[in-house]
Amino acid sequence: MKKNKSLARCWPDRPEIMSRYTQLLFVCFLLVCFHVCDSDDLYVSHYCSNDTLYNVNSTDGQTYRNNLNSLLSALKSNAARPNGFYNFTAGTGAATVYGFFLCQGGITTSDCQGCTINAGRDILGNCGDKKQAVLWYDSCMMRYSNESIFSVLNLNNSYTQYKPGNAKNQTLLDRALNESFSQIATRAANEDPNSGFKLAFQEANYTSNDNTKLYAMGQCTPDLSSSDCGTCLNSAISYMFDCCSGQEGVRVLLPSCFIRYETFPFYQLPSPPPLEPATPSLPPSSPPPLGEATASSKDTESASTTKIVAIIVPITAILAIVLMVFCFVRKAKKKQNAIHETPESLQYSFAQVQACTNNFALENRIGEGGFGCVYKGTLPNGQTVAVKRLSRGSSQGREEFINEIVLVAKLQHRNLVRLLGYCLEGEEKLLIYEYVPNKSLDYFLFDHEKKSLLNWVTRYKIIRGIARGLLYLHEDSRLKIIHRDLKTSNVLLDQNMNPKIADFGTARLFKIDQSQANTNRIAGTFGYMAPEYALHGLFSVKSDVFSFGVLVLEMISGRKNTKFLQSEAGDDLLGYSWRIWRDGTPLALLDPNIPDPFDKNEVIQCIHIGLLCVQEDLQLRPTMNSVVLMLNSYSDTLQIPNPPPLFGHSTQCPVRQFNSKQDDENTINETVITEPHPR
Ligand SMILES: *[C@@H]1O[C@H](CO)[C@@H](O)[C@H](O)[C@H]1NC(C)=O
Ligand SMILES: *[C@@H]1O[C@H](CO)[C@@H](O)[C@H](O)[C@H]1NC(C)=O
Ligand SMILES: *[C@@H]1O[C@H](CO)[C@@H](O)[C@H](O)[C@H]1NC(C)=O
Ligand SMILES: *[C@@H]1O[C@H](CO)[C@@H](O)[C@H](O)[C@H]1NC(C)=O
Ligand SMILES: *[C@@H]1O[C@H](CO)[C@@H](O)[C@H](O)[C@H]1NC(C)=O
Ligand SMILES: *[C@@H]1O[C@H](CO)[C@@H](O)[C@H](O)[C@H]1NC(C)=O
Ligand SMILES: *[C@@H]1O[C@H](CO)[C@@H](O)[C@H](O)[C@H]1NC(C)=O
Ligand SMILES: *[C@@H]1O[C@H](CO)[C@@H](O)[C@H](O)[C@H]1NC(C)=O
Repeated sequence: MKKNKSLARCWPDRPEIMSRYTQLLFVCFLLVCFHVCDSDDLYVSHYCSNDTLYNVNSTDGQTYRNNLNSLLSALKSNAARPNGFYNFTAGTGAATVYGFFLCQGGITTSDCQGCTINAGRDILGNCGDKKQAVLWYDSCMMRYSNESIFSVLNLNNSYTQYKPGNAKNQTLLDRALNESFSQIATRAANEDPNSGFKLAFQEANYTSNDNTKLYAMGQCTPDLSSSDCGTCLNSAISYMFDCCSGQEGVRVLLPSCFIRYETFPFYQLPSPPPLEPATPSLPPSSPPPLGEATASSKDTESASTTKIVAIIVPITAILAIVLMVFCFVRKAKKKQNAIHETPESLQYSFAQVQACTNNFALENRIGEGGFGCVYKGTLPNGQTVAVKRLSRGSSQGREEFINEIVLVAKLQHRNLVRLLGYCLEGEEKLLIYEYVPNKSLDYFLFDHEKKSLLNWVTRYKIIRGIARGLLYLHEDSRLKIIHRDLKTSNVLLDQNMNPKIADFGTARLFKIDQSQANTNRIAGTFGYMAPEYALHGLFSVKSDVFSFGVLVLEMISGRKNTKFLQSEAGDDLLGYSWRIWRDGTPLALLDPNIPDPFDKNEVIQCIHIGLLCVQEDLQLRPTMNSVVLMLNSYSDTLQIPNPPPLFGHSTQCPVRQFNSKQDDENTINETVITEPHPR
């Protein structure tokens, strides 16, 4: 379809004059060129839940699949719509499929067609066996569902991506973003319904000296109402501030809208609508208007055909070459601007890493984590990094290891320490992380002098940040990462005391099963481990929630769970917290080093949440999603927490037996633990 249409634009008025050979040559050139143009749009993400899986082989399933195929081909053949949006319904009854595509405002019709073709192919490849799907490309999105999705706001799945690179001046950046996006949300939502768009662009200056500009846009599917569009964009904007503040390029994608900003012009403002009203309403798949020219060409027909061919052939050849070069250049540029990781771009040689860490000099050593020593280093481009030299081989093959690294490197959230690269040579395995300037949370929290630097406002900010980072790992990243070793020493603090969770994905990199699993290879830290994990090796998102609860109670009390035992007869931190909660004096838990003033409600709310997280019954523990919701709203109607595990009979707990031997760096990684209670 697309190629015919594009050909029609370039085809000379008198095609009958060209020789077959020239025509063929020309078609070949254009095909090559458009192949290049077609494939330059980048896949970003997709979502389709296993909950909507259907059996493609059943009769019903086949009907659905056939309807889906007709939907996709209808979308493809309508990709030349002037507003870059088209919705369609295929089939009837239970097998009805509703779908649409939306192209980013300002892209050309042929880019929109190319994107739609690729999206249609990928959505089928990735989600063809699911009844509902959304897929985002660099410049278009596509959705389908067995339920009507037209004019329905959907905020259920989001995808956030940022290009790392800290802003020159975050204050100014935030201000520029605030101003630009509030204008964008208002303007896009209130666009004239007849325009067929819900779209706005905004440029802003954000540095005072070097004229760095910010280019921002927001767009809703045009079928939404004004208020739904506003809601969607405002949600996206708040996700953006939550996830990626201070970054120089961010996009947030939702099923009903998306926003993006960059420090380079990544869009072209849509050209004003053409004056001739006929042009856009041409049926997109109509054949090239070959017949029209013949009438006017009658009088010149006598002219020497060879002469004309001699003129046309070189011109078309040059035109085709220019087009090809243009396409290649544009493709290269898009690739360069894209937020994209490949194994190659993440790989460093051992020599490079050696040089960057001063040959792993002792004075560069900044810590010792579960899987090896950590060194500070400086990359050739000047970026400071933390290099983790893994101390032992993993069972994983090279390719698998690299695949996992690429996946983990895609996890981007401001409350996660970012994986920037790796080195894999011989026995050496090294991971290169973003360097976080301040030390870890335990360094401040459990130090008599430094803990006073953590006032309540800071502690509350840290708790919320950790909750958001963990939520991202559990739900938003779509990889469903279970951290398995969340603790204060795995939370790093940046210069503004924003928390960043470290060491996530290590379980993935070491090929430990990720789904809820029963394993005897345990990677956790006693004192933070949920009982079902410590005793039976059962881990799930709920065991992370438990560790989070311990961490929250430690943040409030300023005391280590593992050290508590030595000072309070019989109670550990969890038991003690629960008892004073039950007695109605929760504030007794608060670290006396926290200076006044502080918000009592916030403290009580956090203790409450902490206690809900450390409940023995994992079904009763909230998900991180509910934790984040609870932290965002004051509510008196929270559930009453049940007691934490083993309250009142602590001597039987194997966890504590270990604790009394060692209390600090008692991380064990993949140690095979003999189960105390055989099942
Ligand atoms: C969905 O099912 C596939 C195949 O059974 C599985 O590989 C994938 O991990 C599942 N995804 C989720 C999010 O559970
Ligand atoms: C759509 O599919 C889902 C998952 O199979 C199902 O639960 C839901 O009832 C379906 N909706 C309609 C309107 O058929
Ligand atoms: C459907 O049939 C194909 C070919 O017979 C088979 O490979 C596939 O596993 C089947 N899928 C399901 C979900 O039964
Ligand atoms: C497109 O969506 C509108 C509602 O936004 C609906 O009324 C219309 O029927 C849909 N068109 C098709 C072909 O499904
Ligand atoms: C969003 O998810 C909730 C809960 O899963 C569901 O009830 C709701 O229908 C979903 N909304 C849309 C628009 O799909
Ligand atoms: C950022 O810009 C503001 C306003 O111009 C200025 O007051 C502040 O010092 C700047 N901050 C940095 C780190 O340059
Ligand atoms: C941006 O707007 C939000 C809410 O309107 C506000 O809380 C925040 O302080 C603003 N930030 C800046 C830098 O103006
Ligand atoms: C940005 O700065 C330039 C000059 O530095 C000025 O001409 C322009 O109006 C400014 N743009 C905005 C949107 O403020």
